[in-house]
Amino acid sequence: MGDKKKIGILISGRGSNMLALIEATERGELEAEVAVVISNVEGAPGLEKARAHGVEALVISHKGLSREEHERLIVAELKRRQVELVCLAGYMRLLSPYFLSEFPGRVLNIHPSLLPAFPGLEAQRQALEYGVKFSGCTVHFVDEKMDHGPIILQAVVPVYDDDTVETLSARILAEEHRLYVRAVAIVLSGNYRIEGRRVLIGRSREAGHPA
Ligand code: GAR
Repeated sequence: MGDKKKIGILISGRGSNMLALIEATERGELEAEVAVVISNVEGAPGLEKARAHGVEALVISHKGLSREEHERLIVAELKRRQVELVCLAGYMRLLSPYFLSEFPGRVLNIHPSLLPAFPGLEAQRQALEYGVKFSGCTVHFVDEKMDHGPIILQAVVPVYDDDTVETLSARILAEEHRLYVRAVAIVLSGNYRIEGRRVLIGRSREAGHPA
């Protein structure tokens, strides 16, 4: 039990992706333990959802702090619990180079579009208004730019003529919950390598495809 890899999850709100990850650890689908959930927003609904599953959940507000002061508090809590992988799950703040240097290549994010299309806020509304026929979600390694780092997995969903932001968001969200669990499993397994922006999964180090 004690040797399970430890995940920390950062949230700002509802926490449904957080819950998907916690439930995957409970089912044994992820060989890991969610050691702590941290929200920068007091009263984020995800906090109670985490606690209901026996997961420690903290509020570390960014109010009145510089980005780095805030992140130093978060990093201290993550390190105290020997967190190896940090998952952003609706955490609506950019991370600084300081944070990323504390967890190099160990911070993931999920975003509700097929990046690089529609980064930023209200990705589902952006997709609908642009008129794309397919959208989806992306799990990627985090770098200093918003919704930007190397892509681990993507899932595609159709956009229908009668979709609203709500119906499209719900269709994407169902995929998000599955995709995040799969991406975390891949990263925890170590069975991937990164070449430039490309994340190559399940490949040997030799060139070419496996037989
Ligand atoms: C999710 O749709 C996630 O992809 C999105 O916020 C929502 C959080 O929901 N993240 C971003 O837009 C990041 N740029 P949740 O709190 O229920 O997981």
